[in-house]
Amino acid sequence: MDVRSLIQHKRDGASLSEAQINSIIGAYVDGTMADYQMSALAMAIFYQGLDDEELQAWTTAMVNSGVRLKMASVPGSKVDKHSTGGVGDKMSIPLAPLVAACGAQVPMISGRGLGLTGGTLDKLESIPGFQTRLNESDFERAVAENGCAIVGQTDDLVPADRKLYALRDVTGTVACDPLIVSSILSKKVAEGIDSLILDVKCGSGAFMQDINSARRLAARLVKTAKGQGLRCGALITDMNQPIGRMVGNALEIRESIALLKGEGPRDSWNLILELGSRMLVYAKEARNIDDGKELLESAQRRGRALARFEEMIEIQGGNPAILENPDLLPTASSQVEVTSPREGLLASWSATNIARAAAVLGAGRQKVDDQIDPAVGIELIAEPGQRVSTGDVLAILHVNDKGIQEAQDLVAKAAHFDGSVQLRKDRVLDWIE
Ligand code: URA
Repeated sequence: MDVRSLIQHKRDGASLSEAQINSIIGAYVDGTMADYQMSALAMAIFYQGLDDEELQAWTTAMVNSGVRLKMASVPGSKVDKHSTGGVGDKMSIPLAPLVAACGAQVPMISGRGLGLTGGTLDKLESIPGFQTRLNESDFERAVAENGCAIVGQTDDLVPADRKLYALRDVTGTVACDPLIVSSILSKKVAEGIDSLILDVKCGSGAFMQDINSARRLAARLVKTAKGQGLRCGALITDMNQPIGRMVGNALEIRESIALLKGEGPRDSWNLILELGSRMLVYAKEARNIDDGKELLESAQRRGRALARFEEMIEIQGGNPAILENPDLLPTASSQVEVTSPREGLLASWSATNIARAAAVLGAGRQKVDDQIDPAVGIELIAEPGQRVSTGDVLAILHVNDKGIQEAQDLVAKAAHFDGSVQLRKDRVLDWIE
């Protein structure tokens, strides 16, 4: 293979054949194509894109770079959900046990956060003892036993993505639709699922800042997933404001427990119902979305979802006593209040500034090997639509030793007064199938 001529080919806007794409991904994984050559090709794709056929071939080649789980010992329909990432987005954590409690099988492979806040794995690892590094057979056994497990990508699963994602991160080629689509879907196809619900976030706290680019990405994800043999649909949901009240790793586990106990914030529970009911329809456990919502409500009320979460924590080596006693989770050394400088109507919280505040306290990482502080974060006290007086507590920062003043300033700046109250109850902007 003449790598240089393939790069030039794409740079000049031509299409790559399936055989060329297979050679490229194969050569990149085995090291015969250098990082600098893949950087150039990724930048060519950034500008020239991949057409539908190329994207399908690129995704398949990524899947075939590693093992593809069969989940043969897991009976029934396997369904997963993937979010493109938002501030305070802890939805996967209550969703997996909740949907499993309604009869579906949920093998979830999640990621770590790069950027402002932690990812699902970081949040789960704040549970003392919880293991997210399961090998393929332990992962399958966990799903077969309890209907759900949430783990990290193993070394053998889509190695092409691990290498390419790290490269894209340092070469300005992350924000590229076809590379995002193939990266997300290759991992989902390899985990052995039958169907997938996507949550494409849209707004100031997300990758996709406007509805048109969110719709474009969602449509491409859905089309490519279907071409890979998955049943797939995408919700586009509002990400201008943080999800729920807690932002920070252990704090988000506290909120996940509250949600499973029926005590969580309404916006988050509504989003769980929207995502979970569609997962149940796809897994053929619900006749329609309304039926799915009823099943989820009932699993929560009867304690079946919380019991699944308890079992999931036990199977993955964590301490289930956190469910009764969340103070066993990492706790910050002090709490600092942010109070209102004025009287007025709190219209919205800026997701971006809340995420930045969490990051300066230490809740996120900039580089893959940065340490995160599981205990720190932000608890939003005042809700959009609420009238506040001067001196009322707007938010509480859970802090250790880092970034306190800067986080206070960012949270104060995140509170917007007197505009229109924008948050929709269910956050849903569109559904693409
Ligand atoms: N998440 C992924 O897994 N890959 C991307 O490219 C972007 C977000």
